[in-house]
Amino acid sequence: MATYLGIETSCDETAAAVVVDGRKILSNCLLSQIDLHQKFGGVVPEVAAREHLESINQIIDLALNEAKVKATDLSAIACTTGPGLIGTLLVGLSAAKSLSFAWDLPLIGIDHLTAHVCANYLETDLEPPFLALLVSGGHSQLMHFTDFVEAKIIGQTIDDAAGEAFDKVARLLGLGYPGGPIIDKLAKTGNSAKFQFPQATVEGFNFSFSGVKTAVLRCLEKLEKPWPLEDLAASFQFAVINALVKKTLQAQKYTKAPKIVLAGGVAANSYLKEQMQALSTVPVLSPQNHLCTDNAAMVAAAAYFKQKNIKTAVGNAYSDLMAYSRSCSEQK
Ligand code: KG4
Ligand code: ZN
Repeated sequence: MATYLGIETSCDETAAAVVVDGRKILSNCLLSQIDLHQKFGGVVPEVAAREHLESINQIIDLALNEAKVKATDLSAIACTTGPGLIGTLLVGLSAAKSLSFAWDLPLIGIDHLTAHVCANYLETDLEPPFLALLVSGGHSQLMHFTDFVEAKIIGQTIDDAAGEAFDKVARLLGLGYPGGPIIDKLAKTGNSAKFQFPQATVEGFNFSFSGVKTAVLRCLEKLEKPWPLEDLAASFQFAVINALVKKTLQAQKYTKAPKIVLAGGVAANSYLKEQMQALSTVPVLSPQNHLCTDNAAMVAAAAYFKQKNIKTAVGNAYSDLMAYSRSCSEQK
């Protein structure tokens, strides 16, 4: 039995979790900073880093206590190293390095995007191969997984991420932060055919969402107040989600992947899940909503499957494990 402590601080959630064998969640603790950043309309990196520093030790203690696990019961510590906000990542990584040193445990650095996909292993028996649609606040990617943690990126956004588009349009509509869940809720009672927002035609399996955001802005400039918020939310959501669904289905046909999995904050979107289920010819899986958005259980799961691939110890407190702000595909 391998018991992993996961730590996640890539953005605005301070999170720690204990997971057994990459599947069974013993605890999954999280302190969200949403209230703190709401008045700014988005995450303020320096404020977020300071807040993580205040709560990281408490969250780790809470995760161990809730799991009824002691340091000596742990097999390894897993921590998100990037992509994310560099200052916030460093808080989690420093805590993980200190504990790895103090408790003499291996330290495993985890890529945040891989971790989101690994949320699908929690409390399930999912195995690769599959096609993953990863849609979060900072990234939108189609990834072909032929192994538990190794994937080939076959498509991605060429500008805004899907979650970013939801957040920016919510701000235009004066709805608050984060915009995704608010738009999702409003759209349920709106008419998605009321406004025709464009679905960008992009080469291959790539996406583009900056055009639809600008189209909403132009529409609002001409629209008299009070704005029909439900119809605007539904029409915008229709454009973004249908673009995601269309490319995902095309990519599934191309890769012949036997399953599709959804991951990242936008995977919590009810219309995305509904449309994927309705239109896919292969099974579609997605984590429960609280496992779609940032959490530490997914980090512990990713580390377990990564460690299985590597026969030697992957790192310790003395390792040169570094935090990074951008994903490999963005750095090219
Ligand atoms: O994965 P995540 O928690 O953090 C990042 O790694 O970015 O994703 C957060 C993003 C935000 O942009 C938020 O608006 C979006 O996920 N989101 C949603 C929904 N719930 C969260 N977008 C659409 N519909 C939702 N129900
Ligand atoms: Zn995330």
